[in-house]
Amino acid sequence: MLIFAHRGASGVEPENTLRAIKAALDANVDGIEIDLHEVDNKLLVIHDRWLHRTTSGSGQVYHHDYEHLRSLDAGNGETIPTLDEVFSLIAGKCKINIELKGINNIALLYSYIDNALISTNLNAADILISSFNHRLLHKIHQQRPEFAIGALTACYPLEYALFAEKLNAYSVHLDVNFISKHFVNDAHQRGLKVFVYTVDELEDINTMKALGVDGIFSNFPTRTKSHLAHLNTL
Ligand code: G3P
Ligand code: MG
Repeated sequence: MLIFAHRGASGVEPENTLRAIKAALDANVDGIEIDLHEVDNKLLVIHDRWLHRTTSGSGQVYHHDYEHLRSLDAGNGETIPTLDEVFSLIAGKCKINIELKGINNIALLYSYIDNALISTNLNAADILISSFNHRLLHKIHQQRPEFAIGALTACYPLEYALFAEKLNAYSVHLDVNFISKHFVNDAHQRGLKVFVYTVDELEDINTMKALGVDGIFSNFPTRTKSHLAHLNTL
């Protein structure tokens, strides 16, 4: 079962910051998940559309220019990272799951990825692009089929993982509240990996392992990994 650090190791460092990503790399995770917004023709790593929860700023991300956003404190003196900075830090070390939150210009995303593929150790095979915006995922698959797609859902779909198969997704990402053996079996029969968010409770980790899911998103990857290592000795 793969362990993805959710927004970096966000349980121990400010979420979606380079500190959280370094902590996740120190934990030897299999992958790191980050959230992305497009501002001023640049891609910034931040989860919320509103600034007040995670930064010293206020108002909406889109109502500020890049320089102002970069001047904010994203926790412990950290800056809101750019996608470039994240690529430089992670490239070649583990998988990177880029969750698209507020993106309109997908060509901009391609240009960041293409630059990183040339200028860093980033491998295309380590990139997984996910979103709740399935129309965007559909477009990306049509335009750049080499990128693996992760179909996110916060619901328990009537036709199980069919929606993800229709998207030609690599993986389907389900909420821990709705996961079931039936869904896992259905997704596997369709050739899809099943990744579950957000799994931090030890009992939930045990359940995910028993269900045979392929990966989980964890805010506390060090603790999750040591618990899994313990389970494997039983
Ligand atoms: O990608 C898994 C998970 O991060 C999706 O929800 O709100 O934490 O981005 P959210
Ligand atoms: Mg996310």
